[in-house]
Amino acid sequence: MNLGEVFAEPLVDLGDSDPAFAGIVTPRSALGAVKVGVTAQFLDHAEEYHRRYHDVDYWRFLIGNALEKAAITGEVGTVIDIGSGSGNSVIPLSERFPRARIVATDISPQLLAILRQFLRQRPEMLQRISLVCVDASAAAYRSGVADLVVGAAILHHILEPARVLASCREALKRGGWAIFFEPFEAGNAIVKLVYERIIAQASQDERDGDAMRFLARMVADYQLRQRPKSDPVFRDLDDKWMFTRSYFERIRAEQGWSELISYPLNVCATPLRNQAEVHLKLGAELPPSALPTWAWEVIDATDAGFSNDLRREWATEGAILLRR
Ligand SMILES: C[S@@+](CC[C@H](N)C(=O)[O-])C[C@H]1O[C@@H](n2cnc3c(N)ncnc32)[C@H](O)[C@@H]1O
Repeated sequence: MNLGEVFAEPLVDLGDSDPAFAGIVTPRSALGAVKVGVTAQFLDHAEEYHRRYHDVDYWRFLIGNALEKAAITGEVGTVIDIGSGSGNSVIPLSERFPRARIVATDISPQLLAILRQFLRQRPEMLQRISLVCVDASAAAYRSGVADLVVGAAILHHILEPARVLASCREALKRGGWAIFFEPFEAGNAIVKLVYERIIAQASQDERDGDAMRFLARMVADYQLRQRPKSDPVFRDLDDKWMFTRSYFERIRAEQGWSELISYPLNVCATPLRNQAEVHLKLGAELPPSALPTWAWEVIDATDAGFSNDLRREWATEGAILLRR
């Protein structure tokens, strides 16, 4: 693939300076640059991150639904994937669009190297997928080169998501869609309130256990994320944002996107129970039984208090579709 058609600055192969990253290219200006706003989780601990969060089936499902909502039914030419990591969204995209060229980008060469390892077993995919190590906030795409942009859980890691959205808009052809999946404030505020309530009711012994300590860390994390993004704390924190629909409506108006669709991903009868199980499993590798039965009763009672309409309105995780 000729990446000169996609990027407005020269790219060099990272393998020239480190053979472990051969085949992953980066803008010349990014060589040696300090990676700001990203921690070892995605860099030196990439293998561990991949082990915990690799779930292509889940992303295949989410991306399939989003493409349907955007009424994208046929082939596309060029897809730019932002924050590709080890490929959760890139793999379904390359299956869904078997003739597209896909530009997989990430700030972490370590995660891209895991994706490259996988693609080496699939030469037909490898020849259509380029791996580009670039900070999404600094990526200089040429205008109107992409038919589709996808970002799976990336914007909330960025200090200034609006800048990334502006560059995605610039990269898209007129009428092209950018599709993102991100955490939303409404659902997370409810999750935080429930966790606070559980911690307040717990005995000292229970509070000293792994599960309660983990819930307390989650609450502290939500509180941090509510600080203004100019706070220097975010330079050393991966999770920076929880979004609102209003945020994206403002972006749409300010940047001139023609259409915005957003919808929650967590619509079900027991959103809080499901979220708590996922939190315990992915955040602390704990089974549901790590929380006492009475804590699950608090969660279930809160879940039972929502009407079906409300369940369809608030998002913990949501999809955002913006059309150029
Ligand atoms: C939650 S992971 C999602 C990865 C992948 N999309 C997936 O669904 O598995 C967030 C990704 O964003 C990347 N990232 C964080 N900050 C970034 C930045 N400024 N520019 C580009 N990628 C970034 C991380 O390295 C990581 O791969």
